[in-house]
Amino acid sequence: MKILFVCLGNICRSPTAHGVMLKKLADAGLDWIEVDSAGTAAYHIGKAPDQRSQQMARQYGYDLSGLRARQAIEEDFVEFDHIFAMDHANYQNLLAIQPSHGKAKLSMALSFSDLDMDEVPDPYYGGEDGFSDVLKICEQLCDDIIDHLARSAS
Ligand code: 4NP
Repeated sequence: MKILFVCLGNICRSPTAHGVMLKKLADAGLDWIEVDSAGTAAYHIGKAPDQRSQQMARQYGYDLSGLRARQAIEEDFVEFDHIFAMDHANYQNLLAIQPSHGKAKLSMALSFSDLDMDEVPDPYYGGEDGFSDVLKICEQLCDDIIDHLARSAS
């Protein structure tokens, strides 16, 4: 089982979800689930996550320092089982590169959560609160995705 989180730049939201998910999967012994993240834009390819995301994650016990940004590609739809878009624009951009032969199920990430919102808000141009909001949303989201995947596998 391979899952991919996708945002715009792959330096704030999707690497936060990626790092949170890596720790939660390791803690739960769910090593049959692999996780990755990517951005729909090419701006930040090769960069580590935004320092503000790294710092917020560190405060909550997650290490994002080893992650590097990459752009989402058509082959991701062949490689992954689930692709989770952080917002509607990411979703539309992914639809535009989805090949007809892809197996991945493309979803809005928060459709897997009971949170009363449908997008993970982009924190890039805002203050610190936006980054803590993203962190907390990703923690809840990852718990909900793990529940869903574990239930559908049993
Ligand atoms: P992300 O945030 O999509 O959560 O990684 C952003 C990162 C960079 C930019 C926008 C959003 N940017 O415009 O460079």
